[in-house]
Amino acid sequence: MRKIKAVVYGVGAMNTIATRMLLDKGVEIVGALSRSEAKVGKDLGAVTGLGELGVTISNDPAEVFKRTTPDVAVIAVNSYMADAVEQLRACAEHGVNAVTLSEEALYPWKTSPEITEELDAIAKRTGATLTGTGHQDVYWVNIVTMMMGTAHKIDSVTGRASWNVDDFGPEVAGDQQVGSSVTEFDKWLKSASRPPTFGRNVLDALVAHTGLTPTKITTTTRPDLAPSRMYSKALQAEVEEGAVIGFTDVDEIRTEEGPVFTFEMSGRVYMPEEGDINQWDIAGEPELTLSNGTVPTQITTCTQLVNRIPDVIKAEPGFVTVEKLPALRYRAFPLHEYVWGTR
Ligand SMILES: NC(=O)c1ccc[n+]([C@@H]2O[C@H](COP(=O)([O-])OP(=O)(O)OC[C@H]3O[C@@H](n4cnc5c(N)ncnc54)[C@H](OP(=O)(O)O)[C@@H]3O)[C@@H](O)[C@H]2O)c1
Repeated sequence: MRKIKAVVYGVGAMNTIATRMLLDKGVEIVGALSRSEAKVGKDLGAVTGLGELGVTISNDPAEVFKRTTPDVAVIAVNSYMADAVEQLRACAEHGVNAVTLSEEALYPWKTSPEITEELDAIAKRTGATLTGTGHQDVYWVNIVTMMMGTAHKIDSVTGRASWNVDDFGPEVAGDQQVGSSVTEFDKWLKSASRPPTFGRNVLDALVAHTGLTPTKITTTTRPDLAPSRMYSKALQAEVEEGAVIGFTDVDEIRTEEGPVFTFEMSGRVYMPEEGDINQWDIAGEPELTLSNGTVPTQITTCTQLVNRIPDVIKAEPGFVTVEKLPALRYRAFPLHEYVWGTR
C-alpha cells in the first residue's frame, strides 16, 4: 500500500507544526511551496527545524504539482477567499485535493459565492476535493452540531471563543490589526473592503447544517487594546499601551423559523495569565452548555488539518465544506491506511 503524497503549501508557523505531524502519520512530503527569498531554495527540514528532508522549497506551484503529482496539498497561507483563491485554483486545476486553514474557506458559499462556485466547478472537472478546516472544524462547527442534535427544541445557540494571536505567524497578526492605533483601526473597520469575520463563516456553517433560513445577519466589532506596553511574538514588535492587540467580533444570524445564532470571537495578543476559551450554550429544551476549559488552539488547528486528509481524499470532488464530511477521527495508524486500507 503506497503512502499519501503531500505538498506543504506555505511554510510558516502552522505548517511547521503540520509538517512534523504529517511525517509522524506516515505521509510522504513530495514538495513544499513558499514565497520569500529566505525560504525558497532551502530544504523544508532546515526551515521547519526537522533536519534534512530532501524537499526543496519552491515558489512555482504548477511545476511542483506536475512533477510530484501529490494526493493532497496542505495549505496554511492566508485567511480570506480573495487571497486563497490563488492557491486553491492552482490545486483544483492540477487535480490536487486540498485542505486549507484559510478561515473563510470553512464555509465560503455565502461570503464569496462566485469564487467558491468557480473553484467548485474546476474541482469537479478535475476530480479534486477542496476543504477548509482547522480549529473551527470540530470546536466551532461539528462539536456544536452534535450538541444541537441532542436538543428537542432550540431557541438560540450562543458561542464564545478566544485565541491568542501570538500562537500564530505574522500573517495573522497583520489580519488582526495588531499594533494599529484606535484611529487606524476605526478606518480599517469602516473600509468597504473589510473581509468577512471568521465568526460569520462559522455561523453560516451551523445554520446550513440545520437547514434553517437566515433572515438577518449582523456583525459588530470592537478593538481590544493593550492594558500596558506589551510584546507581540507574532508581530515581533512592542505594542504601546492603548494600541490595538486584536479585536472581538460578535456575529448574529436570525432565522425565519425562530432560532438565533450568535458567536463572539476574540483574537488578540494575550496577557501572560490568559488562555483560549470555547463555550457554547443552547437555549431551548433542554438548556445545554459545552465548555472546553483552556483549548490548545494552535495544536488543534494542525491536528485537524492533518487528520482531515483521509476524509478529503475520499470525498466527492468539488468544494466540500466540513459539515458534510464524516465525524473527525483520531488517526492511530498511518493516514494512507484510512484511504487505501480498511481502517
Ligand atoms: N483555520 C484555523 O484554525 C487557523 C488557525 C491558525 C491559522 N490560520 C490561518 O492560516 C494562515 C497561516 O497561518 P500561519 O500562522 O502559519 O501564518 P504565517 O506563519 O504567516 O505563514 C504563512 C506562510 O504562507 C506563505 N505564503 C504567503 N503567501 C504565499 C503565496 N502566495 N504562495 C506561497 N506561500 C505563501 C508565507 O511564505 P513566506 O514566509 O515565504 O513569505 C508563510 O510561509 C493564516 O492566514 C491564519 O489566519 C487558520
